[in-house]
Amino acid sequence: MQQNLSKEGYTVITAEKGMEGLELFTEEQPDIVLLDIHLPDISGINVLEGIRKENPNAVVIMVTAFGDIETAVTTIKFGAFDFVEKPFNLEKLKLLIAKAVETCSLRREVSQFRSQLSIKYGFSNIIGKSGQMQKILELTKKVAKSDATTILLQGESGTGKDLIAKVIHYESRRASKPFIDINCTALPETLIESELFGYEKGAFTDAKLMKKGLFELADGGTIFLDEIGDMKLSTQAKLLKIIENKTFKRISGVKDISVDLRVVASTNKNLAEEVKKQNFREDLYYRLKVIPIFLPLLRDRSDDILPLANFFIDGFNREFKKDVKGLSEETEKAFLKYPWPGNIRELKNVIERAMILENEEYILPEHLPGEFSSGELISANMVNTPVTIPPGGFDIEEMEKNLIKQALEQTKWNQTRAAKLLNLTRDALRYRMQKFGFLQEKN
Ligand SMILES: Nc1ncnc2c1ncn2[C@@H]1O[C@H](COP(=O)(O)OP(=O)(O)OP(=O)(O)O)[C@@H](O)[C@H]1O
Ligand SMILES: [Mg+2]
Repeated sequence: MQQNLSKEGYTVITAEKGMEGLELFTEEQPDIVLLDIHLPDISGINVLEGIRKENPNAVVIMVTAFGDIETAVTTIKFGAFDFVEKPFNLEKLKLLIAKAVETCSLRREVSQFRSQLSIKYGFSNIIGKSGQMQKILELTKKVAKSDATTILLQGESGTGKDLIAKVIHYESRRASKPFIDINCTALPETLIESELFGYEKGAFTDAKLMKKGLFELADGGTIFLDEIGDMKLSTQAKLLKIIENKTFKRISGVKDISVDLRVVASTNKNLAEEVKKQNFREDLYYRLKVIPIFLPLLRDRSDDILPLANFFIDGFNREFKKDVKGLSEETEKAFLKYPWPGNIRELKNVIERAMILENEEYILPEHLPGEFSSGELISANMVNTPVTIPPGGFDIEEMEKNLIKQALEQTKWNQTRAAKLLNLTRDALRYRMQKFGFLQEKN
């Protein structure tokens, strides 16, 4: 073997005994090991276990005596890549080694990729100076290290649900296992079950082969059910069963398949409301809500705005090879006043845009999109001609209607900006629009 494989260009080192082999393995860290089962000192299976512990990416090919197939099959369970029988066929061995080389570089790539992800999704990448975020960080740390299996993340769009879900995974003992992200909105009703649970061969006309579902593929890791509020009631029932029993069946399967999973669900809907409206199962809601994490709006944690902005500037400096120093003082003020309807995602996009389009040392107000330049908010008693109620009385509703109409016209019916002009929340504006009949008018 040594001669033949050296001729092929491989560097080959050999050991005559099991212990010696293990020591050599630790010193030399080879990519591929050819390992006999019957060794003079310890069993090849023990050596295999030692190697797997030292480096799970190493590819081990067992070498067995003719007729010892049963033992060889057992070694596969212990993590051997494949086996060759003695006396071996050289051509087959070369092919097997070529395959092993490929597997080895794939394994290396995967583990590199995983470690990059765990750097990207570590606790240090969650920025949050505000009291609310400090509490959430503390909770996230506890939850990541715990064995808690269901976590519910709630918060409006762009508040960081995805990020927190990934950090919980990559900071847990599950980090080396899959993180499977399922967008419940994007999955069509007809596919959801076969995607989640898999199916047996012949389950339906197109099912030519058995297919594992995402729940099975995520075994040992984390399933992230994004936008769970959009999941159909029938699927919710099945999901609840999996969470409770930790087992399920493939479509048209009889065997119960058990999985070790953590389920992280997220939604930007108010699930309690959805339960009341009977769009969401109450039992599933309570099951998910064992550990609830609620992400506040960015405007309600304004202490985080500037640290987040600087964090994104650092990131884009690296990405775009720029050297932007920060926000100008004026920009800081504008950032702190702006209501951030798109939350952290909007903040990140505003910074990205400014850094792509502009080349100044600091991000200036003129680098920001139009929403920022609407000027100072004026409170009613600063208006030049405050209204004095005439003796005959004054219709306050008429004035309100007039102001709402003006704000809508000035902003070309952009409700977010119109609400901002009037220092109202978007909901409060919409309520008034409804009241004065502007909603119907617009539609
Ligand atoms: N606390 C934070 N620190 C640093 N970056 C953050 C933080 N929160 C969110 N981000 C970043 O902001 C962007 C939007 O966050 P994310 O995708 O997690 O929001 P989401 O709540 O899942 O939004 P949606 O409901 O729209 O899916 C991402 O790029 C994310 O990395
Ligand atoms: Mg998301």
